[in-house]
Amino acid sequence: MVQYFGTALLPIGPRIVFVNDAFERRTGYSREEVIGKTPRILQGEKTQRNELDRIRNALEKWEPVRAELINYTKNGEEFWLELDIVPVADEKGWYTHWIAVERDITKRKLAELELVRLNRALLMRSEMAKLINTATDELTLVNDACQLAIDIGGYCTTWIGYAELDKQKSIHRAAIKGNAIEYVKSIDISWAKDVSQGLGPVGRTIRCGLPVISEAFVLDSTFSYWVKYALSYGLHGIVSLPLNDKNCTFGLFCLYLNEPRPIAPEEITLLMALADDLAFGIISLRTREQQQRAQDAIIKVATSISVNTDMGFFEQLNRNMAESLQADAAFIARVLPGEPKIARTLTAIVGNKNIDNFEYPIADSLCYRLIHEDECIVDVTMNFPNSFLINHLNATTYVGRRLLNSAGEMIGLIFLLYSKPIKEINFVTSTHKIFAVRAAAELERLATDIRIRQQASLLDKAQDAILVRGLDQQILFWNKSAERLYGWTAAEAMQFKVNKL
Ligand SMILES: Cc1cc2nc3c(=O)[nH]c(=O)nc-3n(C[C@H](O)[C@H](O)[C@H](O)COP(=O)(O)O)c2cc1C
Repeated sequence: MVQYFGTALLPIGPRIVFVNDAFERRTGYSREEVIGKTPRILQGEKTQRNELDRIRNALEKWEPVRAELINYTKNGEEFWLELDIVPVADEKGWYTHWIAVERDITKRKLAELELVRLNRALLMRSEMAKLINTATDELTLVNDACQLAIDIGGYCTTWIGYAELDKQKSIHRAAIKGNAIEYVKSIDISWAKDVSQGLGPVGRTIRCGLPVISEAFVLDSTFSYWVKYALSYGLHGIVSLPLNDKNCTFGLFCLYLNEPRPIAPEEITLLMALADDLAFGIISLRTREQQQRAQDAIIKVATSISVNTDMGFFEQLNRNMAESLQADAAFIARVLPGEPKIARTLTAIVGNKNIDNFEYPIADSLCYRLIHEDECIVDVTMNFPNSFLINHLNATTYVGRRLLNSAGEMIGLIFLLYSKPIKEINFVTSTHKIFAVRAAAELERLATDIRIRQQASLLDKAQDAILVRGLDQQILFWNKSAERLYGWTAAEAMQFKVNKL
């Protein structure tokens, strides 16, 4: 209980004439320190101005008033107070004092706040589910998810990032919303564990695949690298949620707090479930997109068939392959007969342009592993630092595959070069295989054609008339000597059955 004496007339306001032991314990002020002072000494930055105005209006009319306020102890600790202020009259009926009964309601208020936050997180999750269900493209989904966390979740800045597979282990910022977009764009962060840029919540989230939370940057020593910069943008804390796919963390969803605040375990569980839903949504969209691209690639393989000339076919197939698989260079080569094995390109595309075909010994080339393996993916920066092609393209990765004939012999090679690390490695290898099968079939058909033509020309050179008929007596082959002997050209004869001639 606090008894105050004074007048409500401003600017002086009421002065304290008595405080009890409970007041001393809760506020940290001794009775001697506060007597004669204004109760305003308990107020601070977050004390609600609208509540104070209500108190002031009531005091001016000598009316009782109840209020809930944030106050501060002597050493600056924040607490919630419920006050019941009543005017007290003297024996003549004149109001002379106020008595305030004050209760510490911090626990109740924090529980209420926690409930509000849990409700927000719940609502955010259900709204996120709607977004995921209706999303048609990834970029819109991640942008909408960031906006949702601001509008419903109450976070001041949000962003979604993806872990790049480059050397620096950088983080690609896919979507950013809120009032500190510049901050998120400009921070130097990584998910590498051995550099200071990777030690913050973002890097740790990606490395461990678990949520990392900093309720107050000022108190977080691991965050010292960024802390001043973050505070200058009004960012006081972070909830960094991993975006997990089966057994890897491919990205993260970052939510910034505009003031330090506790994050309850239940809230973290809900937010983590929300991040899992979002990750699932992103992966589903990517899978759908991959299926679409695989379908497009198959259509492209099929359309290559419509090209008539042999070399036109390979060129078209190669171009379609480079496009579908977003490669920086693509090649189809024939393996020449004999040892050591030499390959000769049938088509070579570098950076969207056809280059002249070339011949090379396989064992000394990027394709060397295909001598013994059906397919391979090679980090070329390690193995071929001096290759012209690689340096010219700045290539980092080689994806190659043998072309086999139906007897299982290597008749060619089909390979791609990439300057950026390949993200969808499974999609690339499986689609590459489709192109390889088609190229191998065409290469084998060409070889068979050549053989048949060679055999046919041998038969044509024979002096005897040679004709071949099917079981139904249809003429299938008619050589030059047959033409000379019988007078029908091969084209004419092959329209008839033998017994009709
Ligand atoms: C009996 C009594 C006790 C009060 N106790 C508190 C208190 O504990 N904390 C507080 O912030 N304000 C308290 N006040 C309110 C302030 O004294 C003051 O009336 C309020 O800040 C509104 O006036 P203002 O607009 O001039 O600041 C109390 C007022 C009275 C009359």
